[in-house]
Order: sequence, then C-alpha cells, then structure tokens
Amino acid sequence: METIRINGGRKLGGEIDIQGSKNAALPILAACVLVDGVSVIHNCPDLTDVSAAAEILCHLGCTVTRQGHTLTVDSRNISCYNIPTRLMSRMRSSIVFLGSILSRTGKAELCAPGGCEIGLRPIDLHLSALRSMGVAIDESQGTLYCYINDSIRSNVITLSFPSVGATENIMLAAVFAKGTTTILNAAREPEIGDLAAFLNRCGCKVKVSGGGTILIEGVKKAHSVEHTVIPDRIVTLTYMAATAAAGGDVLLKKTQPQHFLTVNHIFEKAGCNVNCTNNSVRITRNGRLRCVRDIRTMPYPGFPTDAQAPVMAMLCLAKGTSVMVENIFESRFKHVCELAKMGAKIKIEDKVALIDGVEALYGANVNAIDLRAGGSLAVAGVAAQGTTVIGSVHHIDRGYENIVECLRAIGADAERSDMDERFPG
Ligand code: UD1
Repeated sequence: METIRINGGRKLGGEIDIQGSKNAALPILAACVLVDGVSVIHNCPDLTDVSAAAEILCHLGCTVTRQGHTLTVDSRNISCYNIPTRLMSRMRSSIVFLGSILSRTGKAELCAPGGCEIGLRPIDLHLSALRSMGVAIDESQGTLYCYINDSIRSNVITLSFPSVGATENIMLAAVFAKGTTTILNAAREPEIGDLAAFLNRCGCKVKVSGGGTILIEGVKKAHSVEHTVIPDRIVTLTYMAATAAAGGDVLLKKTQPQHFLTVNHIFEKAGCNVNCTNNSVRITRNGRLRCVRDIRTMPYPGFPTDAQAPVMAMLCLAKGTSVMVENIFESRFKHVCELAKMGAKIKIEDKVALIDGVEALYGANVNAIDLRAGGSLAVAGVAAQGTTVIGSVHHIDRGYENIVECLRAIGADAERSDMDERFPG
C-alpha cells in the first residue's frame, strides 16, 4: 500500500497547470453513451474515477482509448444496459450512467452507487424525476430495474434541492424525450454548464438559463463530438489553500477563476493576495493567516462543500477562531480527527466546525479517509513542521492527478512510497 510523505514547513513557490475537472469529465463520459458515433474528450484528467467510468463504458460495449489527456470513446456498438456491482461500487457518480443508458437503450439495470462515504447520499431525487418522465423503476435486493414502456416523456421537474447528480441524470434522460423537459431549481455548478456544452456540441438542445432553469428539447440522435473539459476548480482551491497554509507565492495556470470568484474573498479575508487573469490565479501569503468566521458550504455559486476540508486545514493555522458550517453533506468532518493528530484544535457541534488557530501543525501519520480529506492532509502536510505520512492514498488518486509531482513543482518536499513501516495502518 502506498503512502505520500511530506516534509513540511517550507514556503511554496512556482507554478502548475491545473488538471481537467473530474466532476465535469465523469458526467460527460456518461453522456458518451448517448452518442451514436465517436466522442473525443480533451483535458480528461488521469484519475482512478475516470478509469472507472471508462471501464463502465467498455462494459457497455464502447471502445475507449486514452492518449495523454484525450479520451476517445466509440459508442456505436453499445450492446449492454446493465452495470455490474463491482463497477458501480467504485464511485458514486456511476449513477449518472442511469439517465444515459435509459436514453440509449430504453432500459437499465444497476445497483446503488459507491464513492466517498460522506453521510447519507440518497438518490431519491434522481429516481422520482425519472419516474415522472415515464420510467418504471423496480428496486429489489439493492438492484434497480428500470425500463421505459414507449418513450421518455418530457416534463416540468422541480427539484426540492439543486442536486448536481440528479440534474445531470435528468438532462441525460431527457435529450431524446418527446417535447421539452424543464428542470427548475437545477444545480448551477460549472460542471452542469460543461455537460450542457458537450450535449449541444453533439446535436442535443440544452439551454441553461441563469437562476437554475434548464430546458432540454428532445432530439432524435446525438452525433460524433469533440470537447475540452473545463479545469478543476476544487483542485485549484486545494493548491491555493496549500499556498496559504505554507506561505509563499504560487501561480496556478490553465484554470478558470470565474468558477470560484465567490471563494477568493475567503483567501483575501485570511490575509492572502489573490490575483486572477482569465485563465490563471496567483496567490501569495506572507504574514500570519487570519481567521475567517463565516464560511458556509452552499450549492453553487456558494462556497463548495468539496473545498471545505482543504480550506479548514489552512484555517487551522490562522490567528483566532474560524467558523465553517457544512450544509450540503452530513458526516463531512471526518478529516477533523486526522488534522487533530497534527495538532489542530477543532470542535465540531452538529454541522458547525470551530477551528481554533494554532501557531504550528506537526507532522504525523494520518489517513486520507476520503478524497477531500486527503486534499486537506496534503495542505496541512506542506505547512506542518516535520514529516507527515498520508495513508489510504487511493482516495486521493480518485481526484488529484499527480499530486506529489504538483506539490514538488511548487516547492514542497513530497514523495510517494510504499507503505511506511511507521504507519499504523
Ligand atoms: C456532486 C459532486 C461532489 C460534490 C456534490 C455537491 C460529482 C461527481 N460529485 O455530488 O463532488 O460534493 O456534487 O456539490 O459531481 N441528495 C438527496 N437526494 C438525491 C440526491 C442528493 O437528498 O437524490 C442530497 C445529498 O445527500 C447531499 C446533497 O443532496 O446532501 C447534495 O448532493 P448532490 O448535489 O446530488 O451531490 P452529488 O451529485 O452526489
């Protein structure tokens, strides 16, 4: 089992290119199922979650090849409508294949999805929306048996919460429906816009209007397409948090600051300088960080829940008490125990985290309990005095491409190695 070892305490400096967005690439790969042709997807990050999506595509009958960051998916010969449990259990977002398989084949069979264990992650919104579009769904022993009698019906669907996955599933299910489907209170994340852009490029008719309304006019067919995935805003924010925590001056290139403009002020409030261009962000921090008292995770354009753990790691070193409220997921504070092993002082009261800033964090043996917990430990590790050894690296590999190389490129002393004998397991 591999670990990441970081000798922390040096200021960071340098530049890195930001990878393509995992959360945009995954639904786009699911959307390839709709295409009666070949999809060429550029800027597709090399991550285990992306490999898992590619395996699902192969199982369905697609041919998938990768050249660098370009994935080519030939989905002319889709022959299958089920996803086996072993593939579904690898990641939660495999559920977005439901909408596209239904659209393409008229039926689908899959079990409940896997992924990060961050509280209850139900799929009731996905299922009720699909049922309202005429999809019959039987659940038996953890497997969903879904089929369409005639064709998918367009409808007006109002989501009680702007779920990202449910919005994507409805979009994918609606592209070939008769008439126009309207999603109200749809998710507004940039990854939704990227999925719509992909769908429009292959001949679908999707209109994303401000305020969370999406209109999908049914078409007969989706044709071959070439598309470039947007940059990963959460990865950008993680390296910003690392720079803020360790101090220094880092330029993050090939990113899109307009996707995280509302988060920049958190770094500024904490005492960093943030300078954006159209496609880069430079962050510098010299003096001690200051606490930030009012961070609440919210659907986009609010503060993203996926950045909560990395930013919390940075605030562990801020002067004063910071307050973070997690409104999106239950149990998304699992990283707190690990940060505590490094000397962090954090109190959790229900969905509120009170982070009492300490003068220094200290290297320790810690576990990446989930993907973003892993991001937070990398942030803490570069800032901590001494050596941090992070275990359960497979969670980090789900979302951060070449994290060790990226950290090294901005001046951190990091390496990947086989299981460290000091690591408790
Ligand atoms: C996506 C992202 C994930 C991010 C999350 C919130 C991908 C691959 N994953 O996850 O990184 O943290 O958005 O920005 O894009 N909910 C229900 N019923 C449902 C669906 C969701 O109650 O049917 C609840 C969830 O339990 C959660 C909240 O809605 O509390 C947000 O979930 P959702 O927006 O669906 O997140 P995901 O699409 O799973």
